[in-house]
Amino acid sequence: MNILVVGVGYVGTTTALLFAELGWNVVGVDSNERKIQDLENGVLPFYEPGLDTLLKKHIESGKLSFSTNLSEAVKHHDVIFICVGTPSMEDGGADLQYVRQAATTIGASMDDYKLLVTKSTVPVGTQRQVVQWISEAQSQSIPFDVVSNPEFLREGSAMHDAFHPDRIIIGSDTEAGAEQLKRLYRDLECPYLVTSPATAEMIKYASNSFLAVKISFMNELARLCDQLDVSISDVAEGMGYDTRIGRSFLRAGIGFGGSCFPKDVKSLLHTSKMLGEPLRLLQDVVAINETQYIYVLERMRKRLGSFQGKQIAVLGLSFKPGTDDMREAPSLSIISYLVEHGAIVQVHDPVVRMPAPLLTDNLAQFADLQDTLSGADAAIICTEWPEYADADWASLKKAMKQPLLVDGRNMLNRERLQAVGFTYVGIGNG
Ligand code: UDX
Repeated sequence: MNILVVGVGYVGTTTALLFAELGWNVVGVDSNERKIQDLENGVLPFYEPGLDTLLKKHIESGKLSFSTNLSEAVKHHDVIFICVGTPSMEDGGADLQYVRQAATTIGASMDDYKLLVTKSTVPVGTQRQVVQWISEAQSQSIPFDVVSNPEFLREGSAMHDAFHPDRIIIGSDTEAGAEQLKRLYRDLECPYLVTSPATAEMIKYASNSFLAVKISFMNELARLCDQLDVSISDVAEGMGYDTRIGRSFLRAGIGFGGSCFPKDVKSLLHTSKMLGEPLRLLQDVVAINETQYIYVLERMRKRLGSFQGKQIAVLGLSFKPGTDDMREAPSLSIISYLVEHGAIVQVHDPVVRMPAPLLTDNLAQFADLQDTLSGADAAIICTEWPEYADADWASLKKAMKQPLLVDGRNMLNRERLQAVGFTYVGIGNG
């Protein structure tokens, strides 16, 4: 079997490299010529630790190549992974236009049996839709299977998650489809669950939504902890010993961002709304997340009196460390809120650059942390980059006008910052 990966974004490129590393011949296809050129030259179109080495290795090994011609590539591959984007639409539903385009091109181009694998995150019931789109596009009836194989990759640890999955979920109507897919994974050590396509699609949404529930639960509880002078970090530690709760995704902060949690929770809410079965808990998860950064900024404003004319340093732009992805990052909402309320904002991020058109007289980016903090009335940490944990805060304090630090990710030690003269404000950490 040889593998075609349609859509070489973050998921597609990681998927292509996984299967190349497992010894399969893989071709990655995308309509974005610039992206394909970069990849052919061994350049990743995004920042993801470890993937660039693997990319160069498999271009050299000949296991991985790229193309912009999907209809031609379809003819030469028997397994086709659909890894195209499914962005949110205005109403929260997932935009399936790219999935439909891929399915239609595949249906029109296929001249022999194909196994199609949907890895893109798609609303429950999409697999049936893909079957229909392919059948409608075929000029003659050619057999194929469409199976669902959702990914659970975290940005910043995609390679680890790809090679060490907690589980592989296969949603297939046929035993043959499931068996073919399992063979591709060459028995990667992990549990395999074979279920219906719709169940596989729901497992993806349910998993991301539940992780978002954990985060919003802790974020809302953190607001209460501030009133009670209780440390949410210590509460999280105490909770985490309970194996039914687990230690992860209990870190309170300025809220979750990224290209998945916000999109996936809203997509599941859209499905529930369409079916008249409201998911009230998830509605509150979104509401808490959309107000968490405001709660944090209001704690800063209380100490400053006003944001008008104040110089505020924003440390961290990406939605989490280890990635250059700013999609839905709380830092962007924080910057907008501060500028709207008259602040002069100076931003820093070790990896990400604010798009130049967004920079104004009241919004500038600095490469150096000291320069970013110079003259600042306050600073807020939005991304828990290691650089901020390792920084010499005693020295950085001297650059600031006022030593007010809001730790949006509860990443620093309050006592240590207070010892060097900072007014330290955590989230649920007093
Ligand atoms: C997530 C899922 O983890 C992954 O399985 C899925 O395939 C894609 O979506 P990702 O969005 O890359 O991965 O990052 P993740 O590490 O899950 O963090 C998501 C957001 O939650 C980030 O903004 C992070 O800052 C926030 N977060 C995470 C918290 O606020 N608190 C936590 O305890 C953990």
